[in-house]
Amino acid sequence: MDRLKVAFIGVGSISGIYLDNITKVFKNLDIAGVCDLIPERALNAQQKYGLPRVYTDMFEAFNDPQVDIILNLTRPYQHYEVTRLALEHGKHVYTEKPLGITMEEGNALVSLASSRCLMLGGAPDTFMGAGLQSCRKYIDSGTIGDPVGAAAFMICRGHETWHPDPDFYYQPGGGPMMDMGPYYITALASLLGPVARLVASGKRSFPKRFITSQPHAGDDIQVNVDTYVTGIMQFFSGAVGTIFTTFDVHYPTQARLEIYGSEGTLILPDPNHFCGPIRIFRPEEGQYADLPLLFDYKENSRGLGLSDMASAILSGRAPRAGMAQIHHVLDVLTGFERSAKTGKWIDMETAYSRPEPMVKAAFPGVL
Ligand SMILES: NC(=O)c1ccc[n+]([C@@H]2O[C@H](COP(=O)([O-])OP(=O)(O)OC[C@H]3O[C@@H](n4cnc5c(N)ncnc54)[C@H](O)[C@@H]3O)[C@@H](O)[C@H]2O)c1
Repeated sequence: MDRLKVAFIGVGSISGIYLDNITKVFKNLDIAGVCDLIPERALNAQQKYGLPRVYTDMFEAFNDPQVDIILNLTRPYQHYEVTRLALEHGKHVYTEKPLGITMEEGNALVSLASSRCLMLGGAPDTFMGAGLQSCRKYIDSGTIGDPVGAAAFMICRGHETWHPDPDFYYQPGGGPMMDMGPYYITALASLLGPVARLVASGKRSFPKRFITSQPHAGDDIQVNVDTYVTGIMQFFSGAVGTIFTTFDVHYPTQARLEIYGSEGTLILPDPNHFCGPIRIFRPEEGQYADLPLLFDYKENSRGLGLSDMASAILSGRAPRAGMAQIHHVLDVLTGFERSAKTGKWIDMETAYSRPEPMVKAAFPGVL
């Protein structure tokens, strides 16, 4: 057997790119069926992609013996329940970020998956793309010397202007750190290693948000999470990272990710994307220079982590977007929340070591 079957739980906004990539790019996955609380969404996907089944509810998918992996594409506050039930039904799970919305949820899922010998992995997988993998190669080979620090900024005015159901971005499990922080923290951890301790400050600049996207234009959203969050992370390596995420600020570009080394500075691509320009500044050159991309998956390859997990299940190796990584990232995300509330430094509870770097693919879509 060299292919595994996936069932989708949730066929909302992000599902399209997974449907596209699983049906067109990744060679080790087939879709067994899809399921959504709003049945038209599942039926539309079935029709568009010629899928074998629409499940009436998630339990039908969990009980389908054809299904190897459950793909959890529900909203953050729904992740825990769906992942827990899927694991209890003996399925491997790949979840959209975050793993859960509290460490209690994350810890419970990790123990459950471990006790059942099931694989649990999850987004983001952008760190496996051409951009960040090339950065890893440059950093690991000493191009900027020893990394001394990093800065990450995700600055935008929120999602209520475009997302059809933007409420969840302002409820527990949402907010700029839980929503966008995973891309930046996963990128930094995969480049610099585990975080040892952190501190944060946060606030809600606007207690209500006004939806302008359809179909809820004119409704308002009560904000129940911090929407302006800054944090400092001390990495075990000795590097210090600064992160700023917000949904409160008008800003022309969203992302900034920089790593400072003893011999130079690396400007990295937007970690929400699989690719983008990489620039280096070295004092002897006196100006920025572009660095070439060295790896595959330059285009939007969401599902790459899932395909890698399928290959890991089939071959018995560790997945790259695996359980220890999504658990450590949740530790950091929830640590920022706790620190912002208490004003105290928080030590990380989770162990993490960087996954194997990507290797150049023999054929596109084969991991
Ligand atoms: N929208 C994006 O651009 C984007 C980008 C990256 C990651 N994500 C992540 O993807 C996840 C989903 O986001 P989205 O924007 O697609 O949300 P969405 O609200 O558009 O879709 C979620 C879907 O899950 C369905 N659902 C919820 N519980 C279910 C259940 N028990 N059984 C079946 N269906 C169920 C809902 O009916 C809904 O259609 C979130 O974790 C989000 O953080 C979203």
